[in-house]
Amino acid sequence: MNIKINQIYQEDCLETLRKIDNQTVDFCIADFPYNISNYSNSLTKRGSNFIKGDFGKWDKWNKIEDYLDWVIKIVKEIQRVLKPLASSLFFFNNRMAGWIAYELERRKILVYKSPIIWEKNNPIPNIRKSGFRSSFEHGVWMINSQVNYTEDSKAIVKSKTFNFLKQSEMKNIMKYNIGQNITKHPTEKPLELIERVINIFTNKDDLVLDLFSGSGNAIIASKYLQRNFISCEIDKKYCFAIKERLRQQKLNI
Ligand SMILES: C[S@@+](CC[C@H](N)C(=O)[O-])C[C@H]1O[C@@H](n2cnc3c(N)ncnc32)[C@H](O)[C@@H]1O
Repeated sequence: MNIKINQIYQEDCLETLRKIDNQTVDFCIADFPYNISNYSNSLTKRGSNFIKGDFGKWDKWNKIEDYLDWVIKIVKEIQRVLKPLASSLFFFNNRMAGWIAYELERRKILVYKSPIIWEKNNPIPNIRKSGFRSSFEHGVWMINSQVNYTEDSKAIVKSKTFNFLKQSEMKNIMKYNIGQNITKHPTEKPLELIERVINIFTNKDDLVLDLFSGSGNAIIASKYLQRNFISCEIDKKYCFAIKERLRQQKLNI
């Protein structure tokens, strides 16, 4: 491999992916930019504060088709590096998650298994009372398989690793608070959620690929669970914050 494991790379994820050998990754988690910053006037929460959901340049595409093309280019590379029947969990904007999963399957890149929903215990109030409170985030679980994509054959596609935890932990709606604010990253996902899915889809010493590291929660979870990882994050300040976080917790990389 032209890449060292247990490192965070400050670069575009496609550059990182290109350095990874075929069929070497046991699980990929990718919390994609949602492409909502151009369109949304919604709010999100940091601690007890509400902030506007505009995350900057990394979350903006002019056309939805360009965004889809970008996602597909990345997922093709993910497919190349995943071991056969290894799983992936991708988070997308709720409005687009089903459509993107469908496109990935239609183009025979990965097989769709099921949604994995993060239900927010404490969704942001809808102050204008103009619609529902946005109370979940939509993850899609997909498997690296080259079966015939019929409904029947899909039923038998099994993830190479699937550690069934307690029944209570295996609902595909997983409930956690928003705004836990462990870090300053604006779209931090709950650490416990990430830890739970890594535990389900990998075993000790497996290799986790974490493509949009953000707060670094997937790295921290991998370290806690004794998994290896390859991680990338394009933004220098977030990379710096992750390294600082690891240093403070005395988690060597
Ligand atoms: C949705 S956030 C991920 C949040 C993360 N899951 C967490 O829990 O903190 C997306 C992150 O991807 C980074 N990013 C955006 N485009 C990227 C790219 N092309 N390659 C690598 N990282 C990128 C952004 O800087 C941002 O931190």
